Amino acid sequence: MTHTITLIPGDGIGPEVAEATKRVLDAANVRIEWEVQNAGATVAEARGTTLPPEVLESVRRNKVALKGPIGTPIGKGFRSVNVTLRQELDLYANVRPIRSLANVEPRFEGTDIVIVRENTEDLYAGLELMIMPGIAQSIKLITEKACSRISEYAFAYAERMGRKRVTVVHKANIMKLSDGLMLECFRRAAVRHPRIEPQEVIVDACAMQMVRNANKLDVICTENLYGDILSDLGAGLVGGLGIVPGANIGLNEAVFEAVHGTAPDIAGLGLANPTALIQSAVMMLHHLGEHAAGSKIEKALTHVYADGSARTGDLGGTATTDQFTDHLCNTIATA
Ligand code: NAI
Repeated sequence: MTHTITLIPGDGIGPEVAEATKRVLDAANVRIEWEVQNAGATVAEARGTTLPPEVLESVRRNKVALKGPIGTPIGKGFRSVNVTLRQELDLYANVRPIRSLANVEPRFEGTDIVIVRENTEDLYAGLELMIMPGIAQSIKLITEKACSRISEYAFAYAERMGRKRVTVVHKANIMKLSDGLMLECFRRAAVRHPRIEPQEVIVDACAMQMVRNANKLDVICTENLYGDILSDLGAGLVGGLGIVPGANIGLNEAVFEAVHGTAPDIAGLGLANPTALIQSAVMMLHHLGEHAAGSKIEKALTHVYADGSARTGDLGGTATTDQFTDHLCNTIATA
């Protein structure tokens, strides 16, 4: 079967890692017709917007997209394309597996955490105002609807994937109403999933636990901002942003993208590690029911990391993006 999938290469290193990922999917003989759509800085000047309407239409039509990173100006300028995409398509669950790869970060070997992050509200709701000169306010929007469905998603995910525990990460000791609502919804969802052990941890304690003993954590369910911060922390534990994948899941559409950003410091140099987007594409293959191809790429990645012969600079190696991708494609072809 041929899948039609929207490809948003994105900014910075996006086009480089997207090209590498396409080559890897070809090597695994997955039949995909790519509908390439540009968003972000690449189209801003010509189109007068960073998110032309046909990008959303394409994702809505195809239901599945693979996306490179898109830059967001800090402190001024246009609203984040990433946040807009997630809100417009109601991609409410952001799933980020934090897994160690062989030979990459021995201190954290065996780490296998999945962060399920609420993706549509919290401090990302875009509700900011200057109350008066010198006083700014950001509104942390938390709704029962979003807390209930993210908790339900996390427990259902844990059951489906054979996991044992879901930990809600919160700060309800301080934000008694907003994070208190999250806790309440989580506890209700826990009752509906008695086979999964529920656990409650305050966000600062969770950060310490991840650094000291990440292997004690299983699935984490949390709000948008905590999930954003903890997933970069998790990436740091297992080797950095070059390897951690992600999926934004909604009721109708799913957009797969790496956790990392546009990496402006290495963009255009052919040095980016494509592993994170390749692993995001593996998540996409499992979502499409292409389990054999997904497992084949996973096995080849494990092999390439275990033999250590091709490593990009972020992991202490000297391989370029192309050399790493060549090695991975050859490994897939000879498996
Ligand atoms: P970043 O993730 O782009 O880079 C942080 C550091 O990690 C840099 O040193 C970079 O070289 C390195 N790095 C990241 N990915 C890598 C890879 N695949 N291979 C090798 N090294 C890699 O984070 P930063 O600098 O904070 O953000 C840059 C831009 O990206 C910002 O405009 C930000 O808004 C945007 N961004 C976009 C995201 C998305 O589209 N989902 C997610 C995160 C940031």
